[in-house]
Amino acid sequence: MADHKPELNEVPDGHNYDGIQEYDNPIPGWWSWIFVATIIFTPVYIIWFHAPGMDRNLLAQYDRAYAANLEQQFGEIGELLPDAETVMRFIDDDKWLAVGRATFQTHCVSCHGAAGEGASGVNLTDNVYKNVTNVAQIADVIANGAAGGAMPPWKTKLHPNAVVLTASYVASLRDTNAPGGRQPEGVEIPPWSAE
Ligand code: HEC
Repeated sequence: MADHKPELNEVPDGHNYDGIQEYDNPIPGWWSWIFVATIIFTPVYIIWFHAPGMDRNLLAQYDRAYAANLEQQFGEIGELLPDAETVMRFIDDDKWLAVGRATFQTHCVSCHGAAGEGASGVNLTDNVYKNVTNVAQIADVIANGAAGGAMPPWKTKLHPNAVVLTASYVASLRDTNAPGGRQPEGVEIPPWSAE
């Protein structure tokens, strides 16, 4: 081994440590070109997917697919009216309540908590309400907001059916008393009724 001669390039002076030799080979051309290609690719990728208004990222694609799927499914139930009878019709309907639950998980948990127990928004799992005396008013508060926008209006962001189904979901949370909840705020109101 001692008289092994490097084949590609000379071992530069002083670059031989205990027989471990440092060679001085150039980086292969293809390697350098891959590096250059990544530098060119990066800004194209960032602008294509992430520039404001481009909406090509995964989240935007998911939102569009979710909305398209919802609207396709909504064809089955037609346009729902935000009245008490309609909100009550879906309160025990697991299939459609899932749409309300998904909407709640996407848009409402940041203020009302994962189980509706309340955070910056009020507790929706107790028996008292501030802006609601009947079940249809839940849909009204969701659509139009409350407290000067502290509870934001959703009518421009959600399909009208999503407003109604989310109202059904919120109505179903009543009296579930999720643990760790915010103190009750408002007054006790009569049980939900379809009239
Ligand atoms: C930015 C925070 C925020 C978000 C997001 C939010 N809310 Fe609220 N919500 C509030 C606040 C604050 C109140 C209490 C308003 C008041 O004090 O009168 C409230 C009140 C309500 C009420 C009336 C409760 C009552 O006692 O009168 C309902 C129903 C409600 N929200 C449902 C929802 C739903 C459904 C969503 C999602 C689509 C949602 N909220 C998203 C902050 C929020």
